[in-house]
Amino acid sequence: MLKKLSGWFQRQKRVLPWREALGSDSLTVPANLESKRRSKTPSSGQGSGANGAKLNPPIGAHRHPYRVWLSEMMLQQTQVVTVIPYFHRFLELFPTIEDLASAKEEDVMKAWAGLGYYSRARNLQKGAKHIVSQGKFPQSLEEWLEVPGVGPYTAGAVCSLSLGQYVPLVDGNVERVFSRLFCLSRKTLGEKQYRDEQWRLAKLAISKAEKLGLSAGDVNEGWMELGATVCTTKNPVCGLCPLQKNCTAFREERVTAFPEKKPKPEKIFLEEKVIALLDKKRRKVLLEDSTHRQWRKGLWDFPEALPVEFSTTANGRARKASNVALTESILKSKHVVTNHQISRETRVIFTEKRMIDSKGFAWVSLDHPERPLGAPSRKIIKLILERFF
Ligand code: ADE
Ligand code: SF4
Repeated sequence: MLKKLSGWFQRQKRVLPWREALGSDSLTVPANLESKRRSKTPSSGQGSGANGAKLNPPIGAHRHPYRVWLSEMMLQQTQVVTVIPYFHRFLELFPTIEDLASAKEEDVMKAWAGLGYYSRARNLQKGAKHIVSQGKFPQSLEEWLEVPGVGPYTAGAVCSLSLGQYVPLVDGNVERVFSRLFCLSRKTLGEKQYRDEQWRLAKLAISKAEKLGLSAGDVNEGWMELGATVCTTKNPVCGLCPLQKNCTAFREERVTAFPEKKPKPEKIFLEEKVIALLDKKRRKVLLEDSTHRQWRKGLWDFPEALPVEFSTTANGRARKASNVALTESILKSKHVVTNHQISRETRVIFTEKRMIDSKGFAWVSLDHPERPLGAPSRKIIKLILERFF
Protein backbone atom coordinates (compact mmCIF):
# COMPACT_ATOMS: atom_id res chain seq x y z
CA MET A 1 0.00 0.00 0.00
CA LEU A 2 2.79 2.44 0.89
CA LYS A 3 4.66 1.85 -2.34
CA LYS A 4 1.49 2.60 -4.27
CA LEU A 5 0.94 5.71 -2.20
CA SER A 6 4.42 7.15 -2.58
CA GLY A 7 4.55 6.27 -6.28
CA TRP A 8 1.22 7.96 -6.82
CA PHE A 9 2.38 11.01 -4.89
CA GLN A 10 5.54 11.33 -6.95
CA ARG A 11 3.55 11.21 -10.17
CA GLN A 12 0.48 13.19 -9.21
CA LYS A 13 1.48 15.73 -6.61
CA ARG A 14 0.45 19.29 -7.21
CA VAL A 15 3.18 21.77 -7.93
CA LEU A 16 3.18 24.04 -4.89
CA PRO A 17 5.70 26.70 -3.97
CA TRP A 18 6.69 25.09 -0.66
CA ARG A 19 7.34 21.82 -2.43
CA GLU A 20 10.18 23.28 -4.46
CA ALA A 21 13.47 21.60 -3.82
CA LEU A 22 16.37 23.71 -2.70
CA GLY A 23 18.50 25.30 -5.35
CA SER A 24 15.67 27.35 -6.75
CA ASP A 25 16.54 30.21 -4.45
CA SER A 26 19.40 31.30 -2.29
CA LEU A 27 18.50 29.14 0.68
CA THR A 28 20.44 26.07 1.63
CA VAL A 29 19.59 23.36 4.11
CA PRO A 30 20.68 25.12 7.24
CA ALA A 31 22.28 22.80 9.72
CA ASN A 32 22.74 26.08 11.44
CA LEU A 33 21.64 29.56 10.56
CA GLU A 34 25.14 30.64 9.62
CA SER A 35 25.16 28.52 6.51
CA LYS A 36 22.80 30.89 4.79
CA ARG A 37 25.02 33.88 5.28
CA ARG A 38 28.14 32.12 4.19
CA SER A 39 26.79 30.80 0.94
CA LYS A 40 24.58 33.21 -0.90
CA THR A 41 24.83 31.21 -4.10
CA PRO A 42 22.32 28.44 -4.64
CA SER A 43 23.53 25.04 -3.56
CA SER A 44 23.89 22.79 -6.54
CA GLY A 45 20.52 21.26 -6.13
CA GLN A 46 20.15 18.24 -3.91
CA GLY A 47 20.44 19.85 -0.52
CA SER A 48 23.44 17.66 0.02
CA GLY A 49 26.13 20.29 -0.30
CA ALA A 50 28.60 21.15 2.41
CA ASN A 51 25.89 22.46 4.71
CA GLY A 52 23.25 19.90 3.94
CA ALA A 53 25.63 17.02 4.45
CA LYS A 54 25.63 17.65 8.17
CA LEU A 55 21.97 16.75 8.26
CA ASN A 56 22.58 13.67 6.20
CA PRO A 57 19.18 14.01 4.59
CA PRO A 58 17.65 10.75 3.36
CA ILE A 59 15.85 10.47 0.04
CA GLY A 60 13.73 13.43 -0.92
CA ALA A 61 14.81 15.54 2.01
CA HIS A 62 15.76 18.75 0.37
CA ARG A 63 13.14 21.19 1.38
CA HIS A 64 14.02 24.10 3.54
CA PRO A 65 12.65 23.83 7.10
CA TYR A 66 11.74 27.52 7.15
CA ARG A 67 9.57 27.14 4.07
CA VAL A 68 7.98 23.91 5.27
CA TRP A 69 7.29 25.28 8.73
CA LEU A 70 5.84 28.51 7.32
CA SER A 71 3.64 26.73 4.80
CA GLU A 72 2.36 24.22 7.33
CA MET A 73 1.49 27.00 9.77
CA MET A 74 -0.40 28.78 7.01
CA LEU A 75 -2.14 25.64 5.81
CA GLN A 76 -3.69 24.91 9.20
CA GLN A 77 -7.33 25.98 8.82
CA THR A 78 -6.68 27.57 5.44
CA GLN A 79 -6.92 26.24 1.90
CA VAL A 80 -4.01 25.84 -0.46
CA VAL A 81 -5.31 28.39 -3.01
CA THR A 82 -5.64 31.03 -0.33
CA VAL A 83 -2.23 30.29 1.14
CA ILE A 84 -0.14 30.49 -2.05
CA PRO A 85 -0.05 34.30 -2.51
CA TYR A 86 0.46 34.82 1.22
CA PHE A 87 3.34 32.38 1.21
CA HIS A 88 5.08 34.25 -1.61
CA ARG A 89 4.50 37.64 -0.02
CA PHE A 90 5.70 36.44 3.36
CA LEU A 91 8.94 35.15 1.91
CA GLU A 92 9.47 38.38 0.01
CA LEU A 93 9.04 40.36 3.20
CA PHE A 94 10.87 37.92 5.47
CA PRO A 95 13.21 35.88 3.26
CA THR A 96 14.98 34.25 6.19
CA ILE A 97 13.98 33.20 9.65
CA GLU A 98 16.16 35.96 11.09
CA ASP A 99 14.20 38.53 9.11
CA LEU A 100 11.01 37.14 10.60
CA ALA A 101 12.41 37.05 14.13
CA SER A 102 13.56 40.66 14.00
CA ALA A 103 10.56 42.08 12.14
CA LYS A 104 8.13 44.46 13.80
CA GLU A 105 5.15 42.53 15.08
CA GLU A 106 2.84 44.84 13.20
CA ASP A 107 4.55 44.03 9.91
CA VAL A 108 4.15 40.32 10.53
CA MET A 109 0.47 40.80 11.33
CA LYS A 110 0.07 42.89 8.20
CA ALA A 111 1.56 40.16 6.06
CA TRP A 112 -0.80 37.67 7.69
CA ALA A 113 -3.86 39.90 7.59
CA GLY A 114 -6.76 38.15 5.88
CA LEU A 115 -5.57 34.59 6.58
CA GLY A 116 -7.41 34.46 9.91
CA TYR A 117 -6.57 32.62 13.11
CA TYR A 118 -4.04 35.27 14.00
CA SER A 119 -2.52 33.40 16.91
CA ARG A 120 -0.69 31.48 14.20
CA ALA A 121 1.08 34.65 13.09
CA ARG A 122 2.04 35.63 16.61
CA ASN A 123 3.26 32.10 17.26
CA LEU A 124 5.21 32.14 14.06
CA GLN A 125 7.21 35.10 15.18
CA LYS A 126 7.65 33.70 18.67
CA GLY A 127 8.84 30.49 17.05
CA ALA A 128 11.26 32.36 14.80
CA LYS A 129 12.73 34.16 17.82
CA HIS A 130 13.10 30.86 19.63
CA ILE A 131 14.85 29.21 16.69
CA VAL A 132 17.17 32.16 16.09
CA SER A 133 18.04 32.23 19.80
CA GLN A 134 19.07 28.57 19.50
CA GLY A 135 21.38 29.47 16.63
CA LYS A 136 20.16 26.61 14.46
CA PHE A 137 17.01 24.98 13.22
CA PRO A 138 15.71 22.20 15.48
CA GLN A 139 17.03 18.85 14.32
CA SER A 140 14.55 16.43 15.85
CA LEU A 141 10.88 16.00 16.66
CA GLU A 142 11.55 16.78 20.32
CA GLU A 143 13.37 19.99 19.45
CA TRP A 144 10.66 21.08 17.05
CA LEU A 145 8.03 20.46 19.72
CA GLU A 146 9.80 23.04 21.89
CA VAL A 147 9.18 25.76 19.31
CA PRO A 148 6.23 27.95 20.36
CA GLY A 149 3.12 27.21 18.35
CA VAL A 150 4.42 23.89 17.03
CA GLY A 151 2.33 20.84 17.92
CA PRO A 152 2.72 17.17 17.00
CA TYR A 153 1.35 17.69 13.50
CA THR A 154 3.61 20.60 12.53
CA ALA A 155 6.64 18.99 14.15
CA GLY A 156 5.95 15.76 12.27
CA ALA A 157 5.49 17.65 9.02
CA VAL A 158 8.72 19.64 9.23
CA CYS A 159 10.79 16.65 10.37
CA SER A 160 9.50 14.33 7.68
CA LEU A 161 9.07 16.74 4.75
CA SER A 162 12.20 18.75 5.33
CA LEU A 163 14.58 16.57 7.30
CA GLY A 164 13.40 13.25 5.90
CA GLN A 165 12.90 11.74 9.34
CA TYR A 166 10.57 8.81 9.80
CA VAL A 167 8.14 10.44 12.18
CA PRO A 168 4.34 10.27 11.94
CA LEU A 169 1.77 12.97 11.35
CA VAL A 170 -2.00 13.19 11.34
CA ASP A 171 -4.01 16.12 10.07
CA GLY A 172 -7.59 16.40 8.88
CA ASN A 173 -6.76 14.90 5.48
CA VAL A 174 -4.91 11.95 6.94
CA GLU A 175 -7.70 11.36 9.42
CA ARG A 176 -10.27 11.20 6.64
CA VAL A 177 -8.20 8.78 4.55
CA PHE A 178 -7.50 6.47 7.50
CA SER A 179 -11.08 6.50 8.67
CA ARG A 180 -12.17 5.27 5.23
CA LEU A 181 -9.34 2.84 4.59
CA PHE A 182 -10.00 1.08 7.90
CA CYS A 183 -13.60 2.06 8.63
CA LEU A 184 -12.66 3.74 11.88
CA SER A 185 -15.69 4.81 13.84
CA ARG A 186 -15.23 7.64 16.28
CA LYS A 187 -18.61 6.80 17.83
CA THR A 188 -17.64 3.20 18.55
CA LEU A 189 -14.09 3.98 19.64
CA GLY A 190 -14.76 7.20 21.50
CA GLU A 191 -12.95 10.42 20.69
CA LYS A 192 -9.68 9.66 22.48
CA GLN A 193 -9.25 6.11 21.26
CA TYR A 194 -10.18 7.20 17.75
CA ARG A 195 -7.43 9.82 17.79
CA ASP A 196 -4.90 7.42 19.33
CA GLU A 197 -5.72 4.91 16.62
CA GLN A 198 -5.06 7.51 13.93
CA TRP A 199 -1.61 8.21 15.33
CA ARG A 200 -0.89 4.52 15.83
CA LEU A 201 -1.64 3.90 12.15
CA ALA A 202 0.48 6.87 11.08
CA LYS A 203 3.39 5.53 13.14
CA LEU A 204 2.95 2.06 11.77
CA ALA A 205 2.94 3.41 8.22
CA ILE A 206 6.01 5.56 8.64
CA SER A 207 8.06 2.80 10.24
CA LYS A 208 7.06 0.49 7.40
CA ALA A 209 8.10 3.19 4.95
CA GLU A 210 11.51 3.26 6.58
CA LYS A 211 11.89 -0.51 6.27
CA LEU A 212 10.87 -0.33 2.62
CA GLY A 213 13.32 2.50 1.95
CA LEU A 214 10.56 4.89 0.87
CA SER A 215 10.87 8.60 1.47
CA ALA A 216 9.28 9.72 4.74
CA GLY A 217 8.09 12.92 3.11
CA ASP A 218 6.48 11.17 0.15
CA VAL A 219 4.52 8.86 2.41
CA ASN A 220 3.39 11.49 4.90
CA GLU A 221 2.61 14.08 2.28
CA GLY A 222 1.12 11.33 0.13
CA TRP A 223 -1.62 10.74 2.73
CA MET A 224 -2.29 14.46 2.91
CA GLU A 225 -2.32 14.90 -0.84
CA LEU A 226 -4.63 11.94 -1.31
CA GLY A 227 -7.01 13.44 1.23
CA ALA A 228 -6.80 16.87 -0.37
CA THR A 229 -7.26 15.83 -3.99
CA VAL A 230 -8.84 12.34 -4.25
CA CYS A 231 -10.22 11.16 -0.92
CA THR A 232 -11.99 14.46 -0.43
CA THR A 233 -14.74 15.22 2.07
CA LYS A 234 -17.38 15.62 -0.61
CA ASN A 235 -17.42 13.37 -3.66
CA PRO A 236 -14.25 11.34 -3.18
CA VAL A 237 -12.92 10.12 -6.52
CA CYS A 238 -12.39 6.46 -5.66
CA GLY A 239 -12.03 5.67 -9.36
CA LEU A 240 -8.71 7.51 -9.39
CA CYS A 241 -7.50 6.28 -6.03
CA PRO A 242 -4.28 4.29 -5.88
CA LEU A 243 -5.44 2.58 -2.69
CA GLN A 244 -8.86 1.49 -3.85
CA LYS A 245 -8.02 -2.21 -3.50
CA ASN A 246 -6.88 -1.64 0.08
CA CYS A 247 -9.86 0.38 1.13
CA THR A 248 -12.39 -1.21 3.46
CA ALA A 249 -14.97 1.54 3.08
CA PHE A 250 -14.81 1.27 -0.71
CA ARG A 251 -15.11 -2.50 -0.62
CA GLU A 252 -18.09 -2.30 1.69
CA GLU A 253 -19.62 0.63 -0.20
CA ARG A 254 -19.61 2.75 2.91
CA VAL A 255 -17.32 5.55 1.76
CA THR A 256 -19.78 8.33 2.51
CA ALA A 257 -20.31 7.02 6.06
CA PHE A 258 -16.72 8.03 6.94
CA PRO A 259 -15.36 10.01 8.60
CA GLU A 260 -18.20 10.14 11.06
CA LYS A 261 -19.08 13.69 11.98
CA LYS A 262 -17.61 15.22 15.07
CA PRO A 263 -20.19 16.33 17.57
CA LYS A 264 -20.29 20.03 16.82
CA PRO A 265 -19.56 22.55 19.53
CA GLU A 266 -22.56 24.72 20.13
CA LYS A 267 -22.74 27.86 18.03
CA ILE A 268 -22.26 31.06 19.91
CA PHE A 269 -23.84 34.18 18.50
CA LEU A 270 -22.18 37.49 19.20
CA GLU A 271 -23.06 41.00 18.20
CA GLU A 272 -20.51 43.71 17.64
CA LYS A 273 -21.13 47.37 17.13
CA VAL A 274 -18.46 49.56 15.65
CA ILE A 275 -18.18 53.11 14.43
CA ALA A 276 -16.70 54.10 11.10
CA LEU A 277 -15.78 57.76 11.10
CA LEU A 278 -15.48 58.55 7.43
CA ASP A 279 -13.65 61.53 6.00
CA LYS A 280 -15.02 61.30 2.50
CA LYS A 281 -13.00 64.10 1.02
CA ARG A 282 -9.70 62.61 2.04
CA ARG A 283 -10.93 59.01 1.59
CA LYS A 284 -9.93 58.17 5.14
CA VAL A 285 -11.42 56.31 8.08
CA LEU A 286 -10.50 56.17 11.73
CA LEU A 287 -9.10 52.86 12.92
CA GLU A 288 -8.07 51.67 16.34
CA ASP A 289 -5.37 49.29 17.46
CA SER A 290 -7.49 46.36 18.65
CA THR A 291 -4.86 44.57 20.69
CA HIS A 292 -7.01 44.92 23.79
CA ARG A 293 -10.02 43.24 22.20
CA GLN A 294 -11.05 39.63 22.49
CA TRP A 295 -10.75 38.90 18.79
CA ARG A 296 -8.07 39.71 16.26
CA LYS A 297 -5.33 40.69 18.64
CA GLY A 298 -2.54 42.52 16.89
CA LEU A 299 -4.83 43.83 14.17
CA TRP A 300 -6.40 47.21 13.60
CA ASP A 301 -10.12 47.63 13.37
CA PHE A 302 -12.91 50.17 13.52
CA PRO A 303 -13.42 51.50 17.04
CA GLU A 304 -16.03 49.78 19.13
CA ALA A 305 -19.15 51.79 19.69
CA LEU A 306 -20.07 52.71 23.21
CA PRO A 307 -23.66 51.79 23.94
CA VAL A 308 -24.52 55.49 24.05
CA GLU A 309 -23.35 56.00 20.50
CA PHE A 310 -25.92 53.58 19.21
CA SER A 311 -28.83 54.79 21.27
CA THR A 312 -30.68 57.35 19.20
CA THR A 313 -31.57 59.82 21.91
CA ALA A 314 -28.11 60.19 23.25
CA ASN A 315 -26.75 60.03 19.80
CA GLY A 316 -28.09 63.41 18.84
CA ARG A 317 -26.33 64.99 21.78
CA ALA A 318 -23.11 63.14 21.09
CA ARG A 319 -23.18 64.29 17.53
CA LYS A 320 -23.85 67.84 18.47
CA ALA A 321 -21.14 67.81 21.06
CA SER A 322 -18.59 66.32 18.75
CA ASN A 323 -19.65 68.41 15.80
CA VAL A 324 -20.04 65.43 13.58
CA ALA A 325 -21.94 65.82 10.34
CA LEU A 326 -25.50 64.63 10.31
CA THR A 327 -25.73 61.88 7.79
CA GLU A 328 -25.27 58.37 9.01
CA SER A 329 -25.67 54.93 7.67
CA ILE A 330 -25.63 51.42 9.07
CA LEU A 331 -23.72 48.61 7.40
CA LYS A 332 -24.28 45.00 8.39
CA SER A 333 -21.89 42.13 8.01
CA LYS A 334 -21.38 38.61 9.37
CA HIS A 335 -18.24 36.68 10.25
CA VAL A 336 -17.47 33.24 11.53
CA VAL A 337 -14.56 32.45 13.86
CA THR A 338 -14.45 28.81 15.02
CA ASN A 339 -17.88 28.26 16.58
CA HIS A 340 -18.65 31.94 16.99
CA GLN A 341 -20.95 33.67 14.60
CA ILE A 342 -20.39 37.37 14.82
CA SER A 343 -22.90 39.85 13.48
CA ARG A 344 -21.41 43.24 13.06
CA GLU A 345 -23.24 46.52 12.77
CA THR A 346 -21.19 49.45 11.59
CA ARG A 347 -22.46 52.96 12.05
CA VAL A 348 -20.86 55.13 9.41
CA ILE A 349 -20.53 58.74 10.47
CA PHE A 350 -19.37 61.34 8.01
CA THR A 351 -16.97 63.87 9.29
CA GLU A 352 -14.41 66.29 8.06
CA LYS A 353 -12.90 66.98 11.40
CA ARG A 354 -10.04 64.91 12.61
CA MET A 355 -11.18 64.73 16.19
CA ILE A 356 -9.21 61.85 17.50
CA ASP A 357 -5.60 61.49 16.68
CA SER A 358 -4.35 59.97 19.87
CA LYS A 359 -2.24 56.94 20.53
CA GLY A 360 -3.87 53.75 19.43
CA PHE A 361 -5.96 55.51 16.78
CA ALA A 362 -5.09 56.44 13.24
CA TRP A 363 -6.73 57.92 10.17
CA VAL A 364 -5.98 55.56 7.37
CA SER A 365 -6.53 55.63 3.67
CA LEU A 366 -9.41 53.53 2.37
CA ASP A 367 -7.34 52.66 -0.66
CA HIS A 368 -4.12 51.75 1.14
CA PRO A 369 -4.86 51.19 4.82
CA GLU A 370 -1.29 50.09 5.58
CA ARG A 371 -2.31 48.50 8.86
CA PRO A 372 -2.86 44.85 9.63
CA LEU A 373 -6.57 44.32 9.07
CA GLY A 374 -8.75 41.29 9.58
CA ALA A 375 -11.53 40.15 7.31
CA PRO A 376 -14.30 42.12 9.09
CA SER A 377 -12.63 45.51 8.74
CA ARG A 378 -11.62 44.80 5.15
CA LYS A 379 -15.20 44.00 4.40
CA ILE A 380 -16.38 47.26 5.92
CA ILE A 381 -13.86 49.20 3.87
CA LYS A 382 -15.09 47.45 0.76
CA LEU A 383 -18.71 48.20 1.65
CA ILE A 384 -17.86 51.85 2.31
CA LEU A 385 -16.12 52.16 -1.03
CA GLU A 386 -19.06 50.54 -2.80
CA ARG A 387 -21.73 52.46 -1.00
CA PHE A 388 -20.34 55.97 -0.68
CA PHE A 389 -17.98 56.50 -3.57
N1 ADE B 1 -2.25 20.24 3.92
C1 ADE B 1 -1.40 20.72 4.84
N2 ADE B 1 -0.14 20.49 4.50
C2 ADE B 1 -0.19 19.83 3.32
C3 ADE B 1 0.79 19.33 2.46
N3 ADE B 1 2.05 19.45 2.77
N4 ADE B 1 0.37 18.70 1.34
C4 ADE B 1 -0.93 18.57 1.06
N5 ADE B 1 -1.91 19.05 1.82
C5 ADE B 1 -1.53 19.67 2.93
FE1 SF4 C 1 -10.68 7.28 -0.17
FE2 SF4 C 1 -12.11 6.08 -2.08
FE3 SF4 C 1 -9.48 5.83 -2.00
FE4 SF4 C 1 -10.94 4.64 -0.17
S1 SF4 C 1 -10.94 4.20 -2.36
S2 SF4 C 1 -9.09 5.79 0.19
S3 SF4 C 1 -12.57 6.13 0.09
S4 SF4 C 1 -10.63 7.71 -2.37
